[in-house]
Amino acid sequence: MVSPFDRGFLFAHAAYELTAVYGGRLVDFEGHMSRLDRTLGGIALPNPLSAEAWGKVHRDLIEFNNLTEGLIYLQVTGGAYGMRDFAGPEEFEPTVFLYADTKQLIGETARDGVRAIFLDDTRWKRRDMKTTQLLSQALAYRAAREAGADTALMVEEGRVTEAASSNAWIVDSAGQLVTRELSSSILPGITRAGVLSLLEGSGLTLVERSFTPQEALAAVEAFTTSAGAMIAPVISIDGQSIGSGKPGPVTRQLQRLYYQAMG
Ligand code: PDD
Repeated sequence: MVSPFDRGFLFAHAAYELTAVYGGRLVDFEGHMSRLDRTLGGIALPNPLSAEAWGKVHRDLIEFNNLTEGLIYLQVTGGAYGMRDFAGPEEFEPTVFLYADTKQLIGETARDGVRAIFLDDTRWKRRDMKTTQLLSQALAYRAAREAGADTALMVEEGRVTEAASSNAWIVDSAGQLVTRELSSSILPGITRAGVLSLLEGSGLTLVERSFTPQEALAAVEAFTTSAGAMIAPVISIDGQSIGSGKPGPVTRQLQRLYYQAMG
C-alpha cells in the first residue's frame, strides 16, 4: 500500500529510473544507478539501497518474471508523514517501488520510426534530474496523439531541448551528428551516453549543441534515444518528412552498433 499522503503522490517528490533488460541482462545498469544517486541528492532524499542491493532486487525481478526483454521501473519517493506539509521532516524515509514490464524494445518503432510534433517545453527548469514531475510530458503525448503523431520534440527559446521522454538527435546536411549538450535543460540520457561511447572508430562525427526546429526539419535524418525505445528513427515532424521519410543509414548504423554492444 502507498499512503495518499506520500510525498510522491502529493508533490511529485520522487526520483525514478527505467533500465532496459535485453537477453535477460540489464543494459547500462551502472549509469542508471549513478543517475539515480544524483537525482536523489538533488531532491533531498537519501539513497535507500546500496548499489549492490539495487542490483540484487533488479536481478530478482528479472528472475521472478522470467524477463528476457523489457524494462525495470523503479521509484523512490519522500514517503508519508502526517498530513500535507510542503517542507516535510528533516530526514526522509523513502517509499520504494519497483516493477518489471515485458516489452519489445527492438520492434516496430525501431524498424519503422516515429512521427513527431513540435511543442512548447513547459517543464520545470531542473530537467537533468529524473523526477516524476511528468505532467508536461503526459500532456505532450496526448497532444501528439491528437495530431496523429507518436511523440513531441520540445522547444524552448527557439531551440529543441529533447523529446517528450527521450533525447533528440539530427544528422545535418554535412552528415554530422548533432545532439544538445548536457545542462539542466535536458535529461542526461543513459542511452545518449551509450551512443556517444560507440562513435569512436565509427567514422561518424558529433557536434554537441542545440538545434532549431528549422534545422530539424531540414535534417537528413533524425532520431531519439531512450531506454524504452533505444534508438527510434524520427520520420516526420509536424507532418513534414525528414530526409527520405524513412529511417536513414546513419540511424541504422547506430542501431546496429548499439544492439551489438548490448550483446
Ligand atoms: N525516459 N529525456 C527525457 C525527458 C526522458 O524522460 C528520458 C527517458 C530520456 C532518455 O534517457 P535514458 O536514455 O536514460 O532512458 C531523455 C524514460 C524512458 C521514461 O520516462 O519512460
